[in-house]
Amino acid sequence: MAKKLVVAIDGPAGAGKSTVAQLAAKKLGYTYIDTGAMYRAVAWKTLKAGEPVTDEKILATVKDIKVALRYEAGMTKVFVDGEEVTDEIRTPAVSAVVSQVARLGPVREKMVEQQREMAAAGGVLMDGRDIATHVLPAADVKIFLTASLEERAGRRWKEMKEKGYAMTLEELRADIARRDKADSEREISPLVQAEDAELLDTTGMSIEEVVDAITGRCRV
Ligand code: CDP
Ligand code: CDP
Repeated sequence: MAKKLVVAIDGPAGAGKSTVAQLAAKKLGYTYIDTGAMYRAVAWKTLKAGEPVTDEKILATVKDIKVALRYEAGMTKVFVDGEEVTDEIRTPAVSAVVSQVARLGPVREKMVEQQREMAAAGGVLMDGRDIATHVLPAADVKIFLTASLEERAGRRWKEMKEKGYAMTLEELRADIARRDKADSEREISPLVQAEDAELLDTTGMSIEEVVDAITGRCRV
């Protein structure tokens, strides 16, 4: 039987991480772990306490939150305290505050501990911002997935339009650029390409081409 690898995929917003990681996991028979969904889950619950989102509210929320990811038939379902929030965590309101939530140490510590437990068995593809640098530094395969800001914003705009959100391309470009900046400049585990990660620029590449590029690096 082929060795079950641990695959780390990092990169900025809209690079295609979750789409291609999910498809590649299916092809390889691996489990896909969407770490961004976990930070979104904390942001979603914090928002329920009312705006504005403050560090105090975030820290109170993370204390007793139970975030669970269930990966079934190639799809990830997200639960907060037993309630399914798979769609709710993808709204523009959550995207607007998630980087503020994800910069705090106690939030990251709790999520990272859970992420490492989930990866312990091997045969996993995990995506996020700090997987290769911090969560799974001993991963067998490390990929830094990116694409031009223009292309990433365009992809997200198309996706949000299909979901029925009336956001302009300019608004999405601004949201992505602001989030990338916050994620790259934060003190704890910032978004950065690991020294031993391979850069994969997907500008102009189809989803299938990227999936093939990733699975091709996971054959042992
Ligand atoms: O899908 P999209 O690229 O918009 O974002 P995501 O992967 O769902 O992640 C949402 C946010 O969570 C990011 O903008 C980061 O602030 C945070 N995040 C993080 O800090 N570390 C991770 N490993 C994954 C996500
Ligand atoms: O997880 P991340 O934020 O990196 O990106 P995503 O949510 O997987 O992808 C953002 C959008 O780009 C989705 O609607 C994908 O279908 C699309 N996409 C694409 O058009 N071409 C690619 N090569 C990869 C993703």
